[in-house]
Amino acid sequence: MKTTQELLRDSYEYAASPFASLLRFDDAAAVVTGGAQGIGRGIAGRLAELGAAVTLVDIDPAVTATAAELAGRHGADVTARVLDVRDSAALAELAGTVLTTGVRRLIWVNAAGIYPSHPLHELTDAEWDRVVGLDLTATFYGSRAAGLAVRAAGLEGVIVNISSVAGFRVGRPPGLAHYASAKHGVQGLTKALAVELGPYGVRAVAVAPGAVVTEGLVARFGDLDLENGTDYFSTRAQDMPIRRPSLPDDVARAVCFLASRAAANITGVILPVDAGHLVL
Ligand SMILES: NC(=O)c1ccc[n+]([C@@H]2O[C@H](COP(=O)([O-])OP(=O)(O)OC[C@H]3O[C@@H](n4cnc5c(N)ncnc54)[C@H](O)[C@@H]3O)[C@@H](O)[C@H]2O)c1
Repeated sequence: MKTTQELLRDSYEYAASPFASLLRFDDAAAVVTGGAQGIGRGIAGRLAELGAAVTLVDIDPAVTATAAELAGRHGADVTARVLDVRDSAALAELAGTVLTTGVRRLIWVNAAGIYPSHPLHELTDAEWDRVVGLDLTATFYGSRAAGLAVRAAGLEGVIVNISSVAGFRVGRPPGLAHYASAKHGVQGLTKALAVELGPYGVRAVAVAPGAVVTEGLVARFGDLDLENGTDYFSTRAQDMPIRRPSLPDDVARAVCFLASRAAANITGVILPVDAGHLVL
């Protein structure tokens, strides 16, 4: 154990290194699930820009084109894996293979998810299992794969889970029993991971987005119509102190901070990225 004086000296020396260098991921491998589009894609792009070797995971084969585009734009090492995140064995195998020579830390982002809505009388056992199975159980599979691989390799790691404002409160309209339960579970899981993995140098954090303009949400509610302001997103923005919906890059920038060494002393937190919605 270091003395207080030694710890203080280390801290002052650390503070002397440029803050921007703490935000770099040059020695990191990153895995981003749900990376073909939306929030996952946004996060993967920023991590690649900041130097990480990124593996994009998605069930949609379009992930290959997304990886090629990000690699080209950032001149970065971005590869794709077509994989169903409900396959825990495949995730465990992937976690081992990305920890190649030279990698000092693993950033694992669980962003794959679905958000259907069903009132209770239409919420079948199968639909409950489908939503909880993907949004919560597969997040656990990914987190466990990352945590155990990093612990076994003796490296640094950060697990970033994508929760939702529905992980804090359910909101309106009704129909989110399955989704809100899964996202509340993701937040509990994140805290449990922080406790269990912290002693091994692995942090676990989550972000809780509000309404984010993504392909998935647009497919469900239609395009943003800034001119008329009558679309889904503009209506939701009325319930946000910052009167605009979030973009994937709003979430990505928060994730990059939490995953970086700038946040080295932060674990177990759930950060809303919701234009202030939750404070209302
Ligand atoms: N968009 C929002 O407003 C919003 C708000 C809060 C939280 N979230 C959460 O953010 C995450 C991403 O949302 P999004 O809006 O970017 O969604 P999206 O539908 O645009 O993208 C999700 C991606 O996940 C992939 N995916 C789905 N099932 C998969 C599986 N079994 N295995 C691997 N990949 C799979 C899809 O193919 C898709 O590429 C979800 O967990 C969602 O609950 C979104």
